Amino acid sequence: MRRILLISFTGQVGAELWRTLQPLGQVIPVDRHPDEQYAIDLTQPDSIKKIIAQVKPDLIVNAAAYTAVDKAEQEPDIAERVNAEAVAILAAEAKARNILLVHYSTDYVYKGDADTPYLEDQQPNPQSVYGQTKLAGDQAIIDSGCQHLIFRTSWVYGSRGQNFLLTMQRLAKERDTLQVVADQYGAPTWSRLIAETTAQVLAQVYNPKLGLDLNEVSGVYHLTNAGETNWCDFAKAIVKHEPNPPKVLPIKTEEYAAPAQRPAYSVLSNDKLADVFGLRLPDWEHSLALCLAAQQNR
Ligand SMILES: NC(=O)c1ccc[n+]([C@@H]2O[C@H](COP(=O)([O-])OP(=O)(O)OC[C@H]3O[C@@H](n4cnc5c(N)ncnc54)[C@H](OP(=O)(O)O)[C@@H]3O)[C@@H](O)[C@H]2O)c1
Repeated sequence: MRRILLISFTGQVGAELWRTLQPLGQVIPVDRHPDEQYAIDLTQPDSIKKIIAQVKPDLIVNAAAYTAVDKAEQEPDIAERVNAEAVAILAAEAKARNILLVHYSTDYVYKGDADTPYLEDQQPNPQSVYGQTKLAGDQAIIDSGCQHLIFRTSWVYGSRGQNFLLTMQRLAKERDTLQVVADQYGAPTWSRLIAETTAQVLAQVYNPKLGLDLNEVSGVYHLTNAGETNWCDFAKAIVKHEPNPPKVLPIKTEEYAAPAQRPAYSVLSNDKLADVFGLRLPDWEHSLALCLAAQQNR
């Protein structure tokens, strides 16, 4: 049975992957909590190598990352260790063992001055420490020559962890008015969609009848919900379902004054994912409705 090392099963995407990867093999979930059977700390190279030697995976799925975009400006060294150096080690291990590495990246690798959806072969130009360290991780994987699938996603939300959906739902209960940035455009993406799409891609990769050549399909893929919006309209779409919806007022990026610079436009084209794997991702409104329904049913 295929042994799948899942790094982070408690983050937004990792928790969903723990469920969606089950049909593909034996999932061995690891995180950095020392009470688990296998604990991994991505800031410690030895801990990464030790886990891989113990687990002997046939596939590594890395859903862990340093994702605190603003805090990364103050902690560039830790962000670099987790998002770039640890990823380089995973890639070297994958190459040495001739196994596939699945990894996640971000729309924040792009500058954000485009006005049509970014394609995978467009030049990245990250404007934040987070974006720079994530891009360094992507580049380390590509340079290692290992078989890889790097899924670049955006504006991830879901019913767990720290994300915009849960923050807006909390603030809606506390305030009458919310001021939300209205001049950054992107695609909110449900963590569950990312995990389900990953599993669908892997099911194709491992189906011998399809004859996909991993060396050929290796690469970077954009994987986001379809459509686009801005944070203010996303907030309105969330809070309208609250019992006493607050007013949501648009503000400009400079009025919010976050430490890290974010792209003004980071919509990603999913055409490559559709061309190679035949997967068309739903509009962000559709996934938001499903996520809200899933929250109700908990
Ligand atoms: N969140 C977004 O809006 C967004 C947007 C675009 C792309 N992405 C990418 O999508 C992927 C998944 O993101 P996510 O939203 O699921 O992230 P998340 O919810 O923040 O989860 C990140 C996970 O990484 C773990 N982690 C952090 N530092 C670690 C370390 N030193 N050693 C071991 N584990 C460590 C965290 O563990 P702890 O719980 O112990 O901290 C957590 O389980 C990441 O590659 C991210 O860059 C995210």
